[in-house]
Amino acid sequence: MSSRRLVLTRSAAIIGAASTGLLLPEIGRAQSAKVRVGFMLPYTGTFAQLGVAIENGFRMAINEQGGKLGGREIEYFKVDDESEPSKGVENASKLVQRDKVDVLVGTVHSGVQMGIQKVARDSGVLSLIPNAGVHAATRALCAPNVFRTSFSNSQPTRALGKAMFDRGAKKAVWITWKYAAGDEAFEGFKESYTAAGGTIIKELGLPFPNVEFQALLTEIAALKPDAVACFFAGGGAAKFIRDYAAAGLKDKIPLYGSGFLTEGVLEAAGPAADGIITTMHYSDSLNTPRNTQFRLAYAKEFRAQPDVYAVQGYDTGLLLIQGANAVKGDFNAKPALYKALEGATIDSPRGRWTMSKSHNPVQDMYLRVVEKKENKVIGVAVKALADSGAGCKMT
Ligand code: PHB
Repeated sequence: MSSRRLVLTRSAAIIGAASTGLLLPEIGRAQSAKVRVGFMLPYTGTFAQLGVAIENGFRMAINEQGGKLGGREIEYFKVDDESEPSKGVENASKLVQRDKVDVLVGTVHSGVQMGIQKVARDSGVLSLIPNAGVHAATRALCAPNVFRTSFSNSQPTRALGKAMFDRGAKKAVWITWKYAAGDEAFEGFKESYTAAGGTIIKELGLPFPNVEFQALLTEIAALKPDAVACFFAGGGAAKFIRDYAAAGLKDKIPLYGSGFLTEGVLEAAGPAADGIITTMHYSDSLNTPRNTQFRLAYAKEFRAQPDVYAVQGYDTGLLLIQGANAVKGDFNAKPALYKALEGATIDSPRGRWTMSKSHNPVQDMYLRVVEKKENKVIGVAVKALADSGAGCKMT
C-alpha cells in the first residue's frame, strides 16, 4: 500500500468514527483509561529543589499503595512553571486544555498559584496545592475543586511571635521577599508578635528572587533590634543564612523565621544555620514511628533527606488516594470526590491533620531550632492551628 493511500485510509477511519459518535478524544476520557495527573512545579530557579521534593513525595505515596488511583493506572504530565507568575495561566492551561489532566498538582510560588486558581475555577479541574500559601486560594477565591495540603502563608508565622517575645526579643526587624508569600507571612508575624507585646521597628524587603542582601544587612546592624524575623525559602534562604553570618550578625542579633528558612538548605548553609529558631508544621526530628518510617523510605528511594516540601507532596498523594478510593477512580463523581477530600484525615509524617471547611490543613505548629544540620523540635508552638478562611464562600 502506498503511503498516500495509507493516509487516506486512516483519515477515512477517523471520519467514520466521528460520524458514529465515537470521537477518538473521548476514548481517552473513558473510566478504563489512565488517570491523568499533571505536575505544575518549579524545576528551575531558586525553588527548583522544592518542586523536585514535592514530586518525589507525591510519587512515593502513590507507589506505596500500588501505583494506582482508585484502581486505575496513572499517566503523569509535567510543566516547569519557573516560579514565574506572568506565565501562570498559560502553564496551567497547558496541563488542563492540552494534556486534559484529571488533577493538577501545583505549585510552590504564591504568585504562580493565582494563575492556577483562575484556570481551576474556570475549568472546574481538581486542583491540589502542595505548597503555595497564598491566602486568596482558601479565602476570597476558595473553590469546591481546590484543596491545599500545605499551609496558608500566615499560619507558620502566627506561631512565631509569642515564641520570640518569650525569648526576650522585645524589638524586632522583619525582612522578606516582597510578594504575596512574604507579605502574608508578615501578617501572621505582626499579629502574633504585637499581641505578645513586641514592637516591630522596621519592615525590610527586596523583590523576589533577588538575593543581594548586603545593603539590608547593613541597615539591620545599624538598627540594632533584639532579633530579626524573616520569610525566605529555597536557594535564597541558604544564601540569606550565610550572608547573615558573614555580616557578623549571627552572634549579635538572633535570627528567627517561618520554618521554610531552614528547610532543605542545611547542607548548603552549614554552621551559619546553627541556633536559628523557626516555627513550622513539620520537623525532621519528630520522634514518631510514622515520621521515622517515612524518612527511611524516602532516603532509600531518593538518596536525599526529606524536608517539609517532600512531606507536603507525600500528603498530597495520600489525600488524592483517599478521594480516588471513595469514588472508585471515577473523577467525574465530583460531589462525592469533594466530600471525601473535605472529610479527610491525613496520617502524615508531620502528625495527623484534617481539612478545614475552606480546604486548608488544620495542623500543629512546632517550635524548632537548628542543631548540627537538623531542625530539632523544642516544643509545640500552637496546637491544631487553622487558617481563618475569611471571605471563603464555596459556590
Ligand atoms: C509561596 O510563594 O507561597 C511560598 C514559596 C516557598 C515557600 C513557602 C511559600 O517555602
